[in-house]
Amino acid sequence: MIRLAIIGTGGMANSHAGSFKAIKGCDVAACCDIAPGRAKAFAEKHGIPKVYADTAEMLKQERLDGVSIAAIDKAHAPTALLAIKYGLCVMCEKPLADNLRDARRMAEAARARKLITAVNFSYRNSPATQMAAKIVASGRLGRIMHVEGSYLQSWLVGKAWGDWHKSEAWLWRLSTRHGSAGVLGDIGVHLYDFASFIVGDIAALQCELKTFNKGRKRIGPYVFDANDSMAAIVRFNNGALGTLHASRWATGHANTVALRVYGDKGGLDINLDRPAPETLRICVGQDVDTNIWWPVKCPPVPTMYQRFVDAIKSGKQGQTSFEGGARVQAYLDASLKSSTNGGKLIGIKN
Ligand SMILES: NC(=O)c1ccc[n+]([C@@H]2O[C@H](COP(=O)([O-])OP(=O)(O)OC[C@H]3O[C@@H](n4cnc5c(N)ncnc54)[C@H](O)[C@@H]3O)[C@@H](O)[C@H]2O)c1
Repeated sequence: MIRLAIIGTGGMANSHAGSFKAIKGCDVAACCDIAPGRAKAFAEKHGIPKVYADTAEMLKQERLDGVSIAAIDKAHAPTALLAIKYGLCVMCEKPLADNLRDARRMAEAARARKLITAVNFSYRNSPATQMAAKIVASGRLGRIMHVEGSYLQSWLVGKAWGDWHKSEAWLWRLSTRHGSAGVLGDIGVHLYDFASFIVGDIAALQCELKTFNKGRKRIGPYVFDANDSMAAIVRFNNGALGTLHASRWATGHANTVALRVYGDKGGLDINLDRPAPETLRICVGQDVDTNIWWPVKCPPVPTMYQRFVDAIKSGKQGQTSFEGGARVQAYLDASLKSSTNGGKLIGIKN
């Protein structure tokens, strides 16, 4: 039995608890949150036996194989480094850290102790994502030339997910002092992982980040200085050129992630518009002459949670890792640097 603990018991932690508890041979033994009462209510909801308000205390008391970190972004690095000191395998929410230096420290610490790590890049749970990566790698689209990707949300305009003015879960996302890198760190991170997983690593990028006026500058301790929209031009290692953009101002899109990849033999179009069913279509062979697209059947794939548990059991690192998380963090840091330097082209050291 693999024994895990969940650290941070807010919104996303519900996916962690539900997913881990559904995996045979995996037990969520404890949970922890610094907000008074939150972990207790969460534990009752998910049937988790032990509750803590302090991670260090939990790690001292519990006999665990790993932890799953679903706390706010700023807490990822210190919490993961502590768990690694205890010799635990760690799955961490995205973004891996709030800066590249910390992300690399996390990856190095885990590597030194030969621990399994994972980053919850949840769009890899999608069968269409996994299939798209296989199609590109197979060469069926030929040499990849052009890529366009977007991640669109509307929660700064509409209330489909609740009123952002009234919920701490949205407010910290608008505030850099709470460790948020804005839309870039929140969903741009998914887009960078999603695009680079399918197309390949990024060699250089230019980016502009914009923080729009929201009618007021702050609510309580939350100062609204984090970016809301990003537009990036990226150059992939394989020579392809791409545009990637993300926004919280995209009316009509609760959560739409899309990517189009065009090669010299064909193209693919993937749309993960939730809750609508995801789609993957390709245009290849003779269809390139008539612009006809066909849906691709995508068999089920294991979730990131399942892959993490399997990796702990087998001792073999899974599809995501802190190294990979640090590579994506390099794209985030480069985006911030480019944006503060007027959209300058920034090379990525891989
Ligand atoms: N993979 C995905 O698709 C996805 C989706 C949503 C959120 N996330 C990520 O999950 C994390 C949590 O987001 P959320 O939406 O659940 O936010 P949330 O605000 O609902 O929950 C965060 C929780 O972390 C707790 N916390 C803060 N510092 C802590 C610490 N040092 N130790 C323990 N608990 C601490 C807070 O009290 C809060 O309960 C973020 O990193 C976010 O980027 C990922």
